[in-house]
Amino acid sequence: MTTDGMLALHTLRRGIPGSLPLVLLHAFPVDHRMWWDVTDLLPGERTVLAPDLPGFGSSPSGPDVAVALGADRDVPSIDVMGDGVAATLRAAGVERAAVAGLSMGGYVALSMAERHPDLVAGLGLVDTKATADDDEARARREEIAQRVLAEQRVEAVYGMRTALLGATDRVERPDLVERLAGWIADQGPHAIAWAQRAMAARPDRTEVLSRFTGPALVVVGEEDEQSPVDVARAMSYLLPDSDLVIVPRAGHMTSIESPQPVASGLSRLVRRAEAALAGRDRPVA
Ligand code: MLT
Repeated sequence: MTTDGMLALHTLRRGIPGSLPLVLLHAFPVDHRMWWDVTDLLPGERTVLAPDLPGFGSSPSGPDVAVALGADRDVPSIDVMGDGVAATLRAAGVERAAVAGLSMGGYVALSMAERHPDLVAGLGLVDTKATADDDEARARREEIAQRVLAEQRVEAVYGMRTALLGATDRVERPDLVERLAGWIADQGPHAIAWAQRAMAARPDRTEVLSRFTGPALVVVGEEDEQSPVDVARAMSYLLPDSDLVIVPRAGHMTSIESPQPVASGLSRLVRRAEAALAGRDRPVA
């Protein structure tokens, strides 16, 4: 479903009307399908919504989303992704949600926590980080952006089908390598380049962590090489109300490598967010 120039929003599970929805934001360079396994393990009463971020899956391109938001079409930005998700949710009647993202999805969730705090009732940060890129990482991203645009294919990021997995699953789970390969091959070079440039330009959002007073969840695979365990511990320490889950024998893609602990953490997050909202909205006697 596409909402008027904004993002394709997939309803992965329709739960009890009126309960707090869970919004799941995908990693780079895949789309909402990476949340299927986790959704299957969530309790049935939960509504689960997963947008495709700009340019990925069946969403409009980053520049088109920027224009629809009144932003500069020539400036790739994580905030365009976050504002696009917020506008898409509001257009679908969602005013509050628990918002969780894996890796790039986590960068977007942090942008939403900063720019749309009324919407984010609970924050889930899965295999991600709050810091910005250093110069070397920015240069690497620009090189990849230029290469995919020049080649008009996604070969330059195809290696991520194994690099995103933990050392154990790279060897033991060829099925996961194949799934990632299929999802990566489905994305277009313009989406890859735009997202690389958006991630390169993202600011440090460490301060957003200490300012976020709602319930938070931090999940990390113990074999995650992109956003390792010590990074997750540091984020969890800064969040005032955090639940830290370290997933054994999993790498960066915990949602497919070991979906059960991710689903359990997310399920707790939504319950905690609902309880916090109920406490806040209760009239003072
Ligand atoms: C991801 O999984 O979304 C990427 O590793 C994020 C990044 O490139 O920083």
